Amino acid sequence: MSQIIAVTSGKGGAGKSFTSVGIATALSCLKKKVIILELDVGLRCIDVMLGIENKIVYDLGDVINENCNISDAIVKTNVNDYFDYIPAPTNIDTNFDFENALQCIRVLRRMNYDYIIIDTPAGVGLSLLSIRKLSDLAIIVTTPDLTCVRDGAKVASLLESYDFKNYKLIINKVQKQSFKNSPIHNLDDVMDGVGASLLGVVPIDAQFEKCMFNGIPLSSNDKILSIFTAIAKRIEGEYVSLIIEKI
Ligand SMILES: Nc1ncnc2c1ncn2[C@@H]1O[C@H](COP(=O)(O)OP(=O)(O)O)[C@@H](O)[C@H]1O
Ligand SMILES: [Mg+2]
Repeated sequence: MSQIIAVTSGKGGAGKSFTSVGIATALSCLKKKVIILELDVGLRCIDVMLGIENKIVYDLGDVINENCNISDAIVKTNVNDYFDYIPAPTNIDTNFDFENALQCIRVLRRMNYDYIIIDTPAGVGLSLLSIRKLSDLAIIVTTPDLTCVRDGAKVASLLESYDFKNYKLIINKVQKQSFKNSPIHNLDDVMDGVGASLLGVVPIDAQFEKCMFNGIPLSSNDKILSIFTAIAKRIEGEYVSLIIEKI
């Protein structure tokens, strides 16, 4: 049975899509069969991050509107044979509701993926409430700034209020200056602020952004791959120490 991972955050721009691609890349390089289901309706971006926007014919909206089967909307990425993707609709579709998305996830679950990674829209709305019903793990992505940490805490407490306990934290866009003149002094403050245990720490790096803007596979960048491989192995249940010294 596939493991379903919801990648979420309180704030947009925290790095959910980047993290989804990073984790999927690393898991696929470990020969785990992975698919990203992009649920950020109207704000598709993973096709660009993966450099495959010209490959997209159908998207999740087409599946929900019964214009195609789910298998028609699955795009093979250029990373390797283990990494597939279903794009979000680019139009805000009035027919789209998250119960339909759940139905798609149920179908995907029967398709022999080891992992289904759901790139959710930001916020504490319907998407998160619906998706947690089928998720095995929720990853809360936050940056080290106070507003993002506070919004991450809101996500964590909302999940708790629905008795969803398996959520973990990725602190993204970390740099030395993050903690200068900030009420958040260190990574412990971020963990305490959100109230979640740590799955990984990802530095901000212009090279990472360059990869994303140009659709260059993250697997080609050793630094990103090693950070996300450590995260992927922790998801797999291995003990891997944090690679914080590189920040
Ligand atoms: N660790 C990082 N280093 C550099 N750029 C990053 C990093 N994480 C995210 N970004 C960039 O920040 C922007 C927002 O990230 P994105 O993943 O789209 O956020 P979200 O999906 O949470 O809205 C993108 O341009 C992305 O490439
Ligand atoms: Mg996104």
